[in-house]
Amino acid sequence: MRIRPAYYSPLRHVRQLIRLFVYATMSAMSRPHSYDPIARYYDQAHGEIEEDIGMMQTFAQETGGPILEVGVGTGRVALPLAQAGYDVVGVDSSQEMLEMAARRQQGMSLDNRVKWVQADFRDFELDSRFPLIYCAYNTFLHLIDEQDQLNALRCWRRHLQPDGHLVLDVENPELFAITEADGSIELSASYEDEETGNLVHVLRSGWADFADQVIKMNIFYDEVDAEGVVRRIATTFPMRILFRRELSLLLRMAGFERLNFFGDHQLSPWQSDSPRLIVAARPTKR
Ligand SMILES: C[S@@+](CC[C@H](N)C(=O)[O-])C[C@H]1O[C@@H](n2cnc3c(N)ncnc32)[C@H](O)[C@@H]1O
Repeated sequence: MRIRPAYYSPLRHVRQLIRLFVYATMSAMSRPHSYDPIARYYDQAHGEIEEDIGMMQTFAQETGGPILEVGVGTGRVALPLAQAGYDVVGVDSSQEMLEMAARRQQGMSLDNRVKWVQADFRDFELDSRFPLIYCAYNTFLHLIDEQDQLNALRCWRRHLQPDGHLVLDVENPELFAITEADGSIELSASYEDEETGNLVHVLRSGWADFADQVIKMNIFYDEVDAEGVVRRIATTFPMRILFRRELSLLLRMAGFERLNFFGDHQLSPWQSDSPRLIVAARPTKR
């Protein structure tokens, strides 16, 4: 027989559980999307990155459109593709990132070539089937557990035309850099905010958990006003450490074959010390 402490009351226990459940649900509902708070800063910190755009254009020339980008963000890659004449659909779950994309689109005469869809990319349903679907700039690493990775890949496969291409572009894990991810904070960029003229410092801290193959990332945007007062916007998200063999296995489990691995945005063959882990895969024949 278990001895309960004197203050044990089953009713209180149930009430506590209900409170915990309500708290967990409320905080999950009210917790902002990881990208919502930083959407305003995203383009100024990452908007200049262009090296992957040419690569996606090469794939687009091979496949034609329409093109689907999952995790489209502010349209950094999708908009140049639309400007090059392709019809593009961009899916993202962050309303703020999509608003930035729509704002960025203003002034570009794209007719109706771009469509923004707010949805979770692990499970959505669109009417169209695409010859090219891509997931750029480490976005696939936001999926931490295998079930989410497989759900997403299967969902994207359903949206591919029978001989379409799926392209994923993630960082090639570098063990040395990962072992250095010990939580220390480093300054990764500083720039003048275009709207306010304030100085913004971008600080990052990564904490590697080898057992779970995850790096817990904390990103801080410190905006310093004219009086020197700092306003900090912080976000945190885990990033999966993903190796080539595991990615290959996931893709095969999700119904892909003819996997071609590349090691950089010039599409050089992948090697163990390549900077990128880029894969182009085709759906298996049904
Ligand atoms: C690293 S950003 C990349 C944005 C853009 N593709 C680029 O290359 O600049 C990742 C994007 O994925 C989105 N995202 C993360 N998890 C998502 C999910 N489960 N469903 C839909 N979008 C998601 C985020 O909101 C964010 O906009």
